[in-house]
Amino acid sequence: MRKKIVAGNWKMNTTLQEGIKLASEVESLSTQVPSDVTLIVCVPFTHLTEVKKVINRTLLGAENCASEVSGAYTGEVSAAMVASTGANYVIIGHSERRSYFNETDETLAKKVKLALANQLTPIFCIGELLSEREANIHFDVVKKQLQKGLFDLSAEDFGKIVIAYEPVWAIGTGRTATSEQAQEMHYFIRNTIAEKYGKEVAKEISILYGGSCNDKNAAELFANPDVDGGLIGGASLKAESFIAIARSF
Ligand code: 13P
Repeated sequence: MRKKIVAGNWKMNTTLQEGIKLASEVESLSTQVPSDVTLIVCVPFTHLTEVKKVINRTLLGAENCASEVSGAYTGEVSAAMVASTGANYVIIGHSERRSYFNETDETLAKKVKLALANQLTPIFCIGELLSEREANIHFDVVKKQLQKGLFDLSAEDFGKIVIAYEPVWAIGTGRTATSEQAQEMHYFIRNTIAEKYGKEVAKEISILYGGSCNDKNAAELFANPDVDGGLIGGASLKAESFIAIARSF
């Protein structure tokens, strides 16, 4: 059975002290979350080590990692460094990294391989722009992101990935994808994976929805057969709303 996952993406929010407080609150409320739900907080690099100390039931992730192993890359943080903090997950290919920091499919494919080589589970983000949905090319866009970012992995490695479908027009806009739009795309993603790696692999991959997911709409989104949880931005910055989302299955 594939995992149900609710992951917070804190983005560039909270000071270290605020982050420790938020993580502690999430951890203390995590007893309310059913044990079959994996709860993850993905936090800024500066917070990883300290947040790790205040969580136990909650798992830890980073929001990014470098596309190179080590060396003269000032300001970068490698997958090995992330793993050495005790983190188990790393978000790769968030649309904000693709658009503001010009991360290409080729760069992201390198990051995925380095994450896996360091025993980190990539939470790999894909999703179309509003203009691409309006032009009715959203399925092609998402398929290409999957192919270029992930499809040269072996079936064994692919089986370790978590996918997050985040339509860019829904991120931070308050405009959530409808339950039908989410299910339709998640089904398409699972089918595309099945064509490449077979039905057994596709069946086991967790596909999360992200984009203005909150404690009001999570239950309807998560009730879909191919929606295995959420990647949560704004609503993960308050412990109560984040935990309420994780209780929505
Ligand atoms: P919001 O939940 O704030 O729309 O952000 C979603 C997101 O980008 C998670 O990675």
